[in-house]
Amino acid sequence: MSISIVILAAGKGSRMKSTTPKVLHEISGKSMLFHAIDAGQKISDDITVVLYHQATRVQQAIESHYQNINFHMQDAKQFPGTGGAMKGVSTKYEKTLILNGDMPLITQNSLLALTEGTADINMSVIKLENPHGYGRVLIENENVQEIVEQKDCNQAQLATKTVNAGIYCVNTKLLNRYIPLLSNKNAQKEYYLTDIVKMAVDENKTVSPIYVEEEEFKGVNSKLDLADAEVIMQDRIKKELMESGVTMRFPDSIYIDCRATFEGECILENNVNIIGTSKLINAHIKTNSIIEDSIIEDSDVGPMGRIRPLTYLKDTHIGNFVEVKKSTLTGVKAGHLAYIGDATINKGSNIGAGVITCNYDGKAKHKTIIGKNVFVGSDCQLVAPVTIEDDVIIAAGTTLNKDIKKGSLAITRSALKILPDFFYKFFGK
Ligand code: UD1
Ligand code: MG
Repeated sequence: MSISIVILAAGKGSRMKSTTPKVLHEISGKSMLFHAIDAGQKISDDITVVLYHQATRVQQAIESHYQNINFHMQDAKQFPGTGGAMKGVSTKYEKTLILNGDMPLITQNSLLALTEGTADINMSVIKLENPHGYGRVLIENENVQEIVEQKDCNQAQLATKTVNAGIYCVNTKLLNRYIPLLSNKNAQKEYYLTDIVKMAVDENKTVSPIYVEEEEFKGVNSKLDLADAEVIMQDRIKKELMESGVTMRFPDSIYIDCRATFEGECILENNVNIIGTSKLINAHIKTNSIIEDSIIEDSDVGPMGRIRPLTYLKDTHIGNFVEVKKSTLTGVKAGHLAYIGDATINKGSNIGAGVITCNYDGKAKHKTIIGKNVFVGSDCQLVAPVTIEDDVIIAAGTTLNKDIKKGSLAITRSALKILPDFFYKFFGK
C-alpha cells in the first residue's frame, strides 16, 4: 500500500522518571516503539522515526531489530514541538500517516481506517468525559475547524469533550507546504503539528474526523500508564490465544509475551509465565512455572518448573522445582528438584531428585552429555564436562567427574558406619 508513516519519538518522556528512553519501555516483552513500528509495517514500507532525546540509543535499538527504517533527527532546540519534529522529514508516498511512538496499543486496523477516503487530512478524535491534557477539537456542523491545545484554550473551549487522539493522515504535498509555515506563537512556544488543521480549513481543504477507540490511542506517559497498557495488551494476547485453542486456567493470573507462539493443544495452568520468544507445541505448563525463550514440544512442565533460555524439551516430563537451562532433553523424565544446565539428555533417561549438573567451574561453563536409558539416582553431582554413554546407572549420591562407558555402573560412596547405642552414650539415658 502506498502510505508513508512517520513515528514521532523525539520527546523526552520525563514523566516516566527513568533513564531508559520512554519509547523503549516494554509492554508484553516488546518496546512501545516496536509495537508501533510493527503495526506500521503491516501497512507501509516507508517508515521514518523522528528522534532527538537519547537518539543514539533509540536508533541502535531499532537498527538491531529492523533493517528498513528511516531516521530523522529533529532540531529540537530551534524547533521544539510536534510540528518541529516534522520539519525536514521527507516521505515517499502520496499520503503520510503520522503517529506517536508512545501508543503501543494501536492496531493495524485502526491505522488503516485513518488512511481511507479522499479527505486532505484524516484526523483521529475521541470523545472523553475527562478531556484534560488533550488538544480540543473544535467542530462546527460536523466540520472540523481547528485543534486548540489545552494551554491555549479559553474557558468555553476547555469544556469541549472531543479531543485530538494524535494520529493524522495527511496529503503529503499539503503537509510539505504547511510544515514550514508553522509558527510558535502559542502558550508553549512550540511548533504544533496540530496547526495544520486550521491551515487546511482556511484553504477549504477537507478535514475528516475519524472517531476512534480510546483504548488503542492511549498515550503512555508514566509508569502508571505503562501498567494500564500492559493489562490491556495481556488481555488481547490471551483472548486471541484462547480463540485459537490454548486452554488457560485463570487467565488473569497468566503472563504471556507477545512474541510467544503456540501450536497444537496447549494447556496453561494458573500463574504461568511464558517469556520471550518461546514456542509451545502440545505443551502442558502447570501452576507457577516459568518458560523463557525455549521450545516445549509434546512435554509437560511443573508445577513450579523453571525453563530458562535456549532449552528444547521434546517428549519430556519436568516436575516440580526443576530448573533447566540451555539444554536439549528428548524423551527424559526429571520429576523433582534438579538443576540441568548446558546438557544434552537422550531418550529413556531418568534424572533423580536432587541431581545437579555442575556446569560452571568458576571461570567457564561446560557441557554434560547423557545418552539413552541412563538412570541418574538421587542427589548426584555431574561435574562437567562429562559424557555418560547409553545404558548407564549412576548410583544415588555419586559425584561423577569422569566419562562413563556404555552399560556401566558409577558409584561413589563412603562406607556406612553404624555404632549401636551411640545416641545414649552421647546424650545419656
Ligand atoms: C499532542 C497533541 C494534542 C493531542 C495529544 C494526543 C500537539 C501540539 N498536540 O499533545 O493535540 O491531544 O498529542 O496524545 O501535537 N514529540 C517529538 N518532538 C517534540 C515533541 C514531541 O517527537 O518536540 C513526540 C513525542 O515523543 C510524542 C509525540 O510527539 O511521541 C506527542 O508529543 P507530546 O508532547 O506527548 O504531545 P502532547 O502534548 O501530548
Ligand atoms: Mg502526550
